[in-house]
Amino acid sequence: MADTNAKLTVNGKEYELPIIEGTLGRPVIDIAALQESGFWSYDPGFKVTAPVESKITYIDGGKGELLHRGYPIDQLANNAEYLEVAYALIHGDLPNSEQKADFFKKIREHTGVHDQLRKFFEGFRRDAHPMAIMVGVVGALSAFYHEHLDVSNEDHREITAIRLIAKMPTLAAMSYKYSRGEPFMYPRNDFNYAENFLYMMFATPADVDYEPNDVITRAMDKIFTLHADHEQNASTSTVRLAGSTGANPYACIAAGIAALWGPSHGGANEAVLEMLDEIGTVENVPEFMEKVKSREVKLMGFGHRVYKNFDPRAQVMKETCDEVLGALGINDPKLELAMALEKIALEDPFFVERNLYPNVDFYSGIILKAIGIPTSMFTVIFSLARTSGWISHWLEMHSTPFKIGRPRQLYTGETRRDFVKVEDRK
Ligand code: SDX
Repeated sequence: MADTNAKLTVNGKEYELPIIEGTLGRPVIDIAALQESGFWSYDPGFKVTAPVESKITYIDGGKGELLHRGYPIDQLANNAEYLEVAYALIHGDLPNSEQKADFFKKIREHTGVHDQLRKFFEGFRRDAHPMAIMVGVVGALSAFYHEHLDVSNEDHREITAIRLIAKMPTLAAMSYKYSRGEPFMYPRNDFNYAENFLYMMFATPADVDYEPNDVITRAMDKIFTLHADHEQNASTSTVRLAGSTGANPYACIAAGIAALWGPSHGGANEAVLEMLDEIGTVENVPEFMEKVKSREVKLMGFGHRVYKNFDPRAQVMKETCDEVLGALGINDPKLELAMALEKIALEDPFFVERNLYPNVDFYSGIILKAIGIPTSMFTVIFSLARTSGWISHWLEMHSTPFKIGRPRQLYTGETRRDFVKVEDRK
């Protein structure tokens, strides 16, 4: 019979800490009783801390399993459209035909952005990193929708979720067009979500007869699905913490975009391509691996806080990579280099002992590059896709009473209780 309580004895006093079972995965120990103990729990990097209960995504890092609302990621990526997955993340299950038609229609109706917002881009230099632009313009959306910013109002929350999911491709494509000095392309609502994004990215007023490539469109949609959500990762936790203050959802998503930008998180896909460029050829791999083992550099796209097995998204990404390169007749030496790197790493004790496997970022950059997307846009696409996950966690947080997130600390600073005047300081 499994214990129902954990026991903690400290300073001669015993505390009964309730054990709470979930539907899958590790049970948790409720440590609220520590409040009276005079102690804080201590867990830098939140390696063993669950700050929330959630029903959205489940990850088994040991098995390399990822479920969204209970569906395995490979089944979703290979059988559902990204917007169906977004609907499931928000509403709890995949839509039926009527719900799908209604949701897709609502998204189509909100793909445009206020013409004034276009002026925000002109404040950036043309060589601004598109993630810098996205942090700015997504946060600025709250200045355009005053009438729907009451986070306590369920209808306001729902229309905001629709607006964010609908507008992210438009804003992402605008950040790309701006960097190239090309005119913005208005969304076309006769295209599906991925087609519309690719159209706004690559069409120009001179060739509005742009016809999307079905293989590329399907690959783009799959990439969106593979990046849609991932439990309480750093950027999602950022969105939840910002949301716990009552901040408006546009500000919360902008905070998530900022957190995702880091190379240890969503910025890794861009860093993988930079790493492959630095290595250059397969002959240079052994020398590079020595730099990794001496901890001079990290093998970008490898390792994960949760997965100690293959990241199931990386496997789907690799299949998609083969499909796209095959369909486009591209023989990208970077793919060969990446596969050589992966093979060596998977057989090398340094990586095996540390359970370091390819993660979602290892192959995504090669596909995006093959589609013609510059590396600076890789994390923007990650943020576009992750918006459905971020907003579903924000909505879940608002669906039940919550408190402001306010972690404590282990203080190891000075104690100076006698003020010293400047003239008396050494
Ligand atoms: C994403 O959380 C999520 O779910 C994130 C994400 C999502 O969808 O939201 O999955 C998206 O962020 C994927 C991860 C993308 N990042 C990278 O590919 C960057 C390279 N990876 C590493 O920075 C690292 O693996 C992390 C940050 C992803 C995880 O780091 P952890 O869990 O803190 O692991 P660690 O740093 O404690 O590493 C354990 C050991 C260490 O060895 P020692 O120094 O103790 O001997 O493994 C080593 C690390 O040095 N290590 C690596 C490595 N990752 C860990 N060594 C070389 N190359 C790496 N990539």
